[in-house]
Amino acid sequence: YVLGIDLGTSSLKGILMNEAGDLITTKSAEYKIDTPKQGYSEQRPEYWVVALEAVLTGLSVEVSDFGQNLAGISFSGQMHSLVVLDENNTPVYPAILWNDVRTSKQCAEITDKLGSRLLEITKNIALEGFTLPKILWLQENKPDVWARVKKIMLPKDYLSLWLTGNTYTEYSDAAGTLLLDIEKREWSKEIAETFNIDLSILPELTESTGQTGLIKAEIAERYKLSKAVKVFAGGADNAAAALGVGLINEEVGLISMGTSGVVSAYEPKIADYKGKLHFFDHTVPGAYYSMGVTLAAGNSLNWYKETFGKGLSFNELLSEVYTVAPGSEGLLFTPYIVGERTPHFDSKIRGSFVGISAHHEQRHFSRAVLEGITFSLRDSKDIMESTKGKKFKQLISVGGGAQNPDIMQMQADIFNAEMIRLTVEQGPGLGACMIAAYGCGFYDTLEEVTKAFVHYKEATFTPKPANVARYEKVYQIWKKAYQATAELSH
Ligand code: XUL
Repeated sequence: YVLGIDLGTSSLKGILMNEAGDLITTKSAEYKIDTPKQGYSEQRPEYWVVALEAVLTGLSVEVSDFGQNLAGISFSGQMHSLVVLDENNTPVYPAILWNDVRTSKQCAEITDKLGSRLLEITKNIALEGFTLPKILWLQENKPDVWARVKKIMLPKDYLSLWLTGNTYTEYSDAAGTLLLDIEKREWSKEIAETFNIDLSILPELTESTGQTGLIKAEIAERYKLSKAVKVFAGGADNAAAALGVGLINEEVGLISMGTSGVVSAYEPKIADYKGKLHFFDHTVPGAYYSMGVTLAAGNSLNWYKETFGKGLSFNELLSEVYTVAPGSEGLLFTPYIVGERTPHFDSKIRGSFVGISAHHEQRHFSRAVLEGITFSLRDSKDIMESTKGKKFKQLISVGGGAQNPDIMQMQADIFNAEMIRLTVEQGPGLGACMIAAYGCGFYDTLEEVTKAFVHYKEATFTPKPANVARYEKVYQIWKKAYQATAELSH
């Protein structure tokens, strides 16, 4: 067996699969987010260990040969969150999470001090969520704590440390810290020196598929693990999710609709997105992925339902969307209700409905919300295609909406691309299982692992030319809404 552990923001999920890529079972355990002040978002690394232990216990109870047959473990983890340890590898402060926004001042300082070097070295711009601003916040506001820090790492690396006793991180998570020199594939001395960060506190780097050690004897005994179980470094959740849907070449792109919406593309070499998209190392060794994020995708739909569709289920709310023609008869929605990430990187912008007519009904608004979310994902997708100079052959759609044929057709028409979906969605934990399966040597290449572990439904959704033409016109008008409304919120 291989076990993929997805260390999320609100829960930890374990996926147990066999060597052939069949699902055995899943187990999960939740934990809380601590918010000691507004804008703060923290978790004690101990919460994750408790959750991992609950999952391991659950698996060993449910699956009789779990201990006998477990061969390898790997991870997918929430990105950017800062874990700080003393010389005994004990946490000296709660982990400051990726969705914590206390670091605006530190972001300005990073941008100011590094100027164009930041983008040149890390290929990304400074955002509150990233790790380096959190380090600067600790240095500035908790100097006593910072003085005790002997190692920093990302959340999933802490679980790897707990299991093996070894401190590592890997490229896909290191890329989200703003401390990695992406081209040289090493920690950036220039950035570390600029901010008085001793290079010795940065963990050794390995590939996502790199082995970080074997499960310690005392843990193996507790769960009656009879083999020497190998632990592999794993990846940042978005990178692991990309592997888990088969994003291992440039032919396909990934559209994922969760609370936020994500567009990802495989990148065989470093590409210059000029900071308009995120650009990180992939879990596929030596490769990268670009990523666009619409902050409020499912979140916009939730807000819309809570505000204008009280008492309706999502199915009821969306049931008549198909009766409205593409373009919602002139009604536009921009989904910037909590600001926007790519390509605008604008936390102040807010959303809008534009073009309301006396004849519009709820179904028009419902359709406009779905279209607006999809248009904003198209912004990022178009930047990928124009930078690469080629179109995606197919887009893989996952998350909310992938089960709804109306939404799938809308995506095909707005993206002007063939849409495919997975037979079963397992999320980033599947990518973690695949890393473990490769690491254990069950397959020679990640391509072979992908063939065994990732399955698509046969039916695809293809763009309808009349809808594509209509959306093309509407999208060009929709794009102007950002500038036109920016003044309202700035
Ligand atoms: C990516 C990001 C989130 C976290 C969620 O930049 O901040 O997607 O990875 O875990």
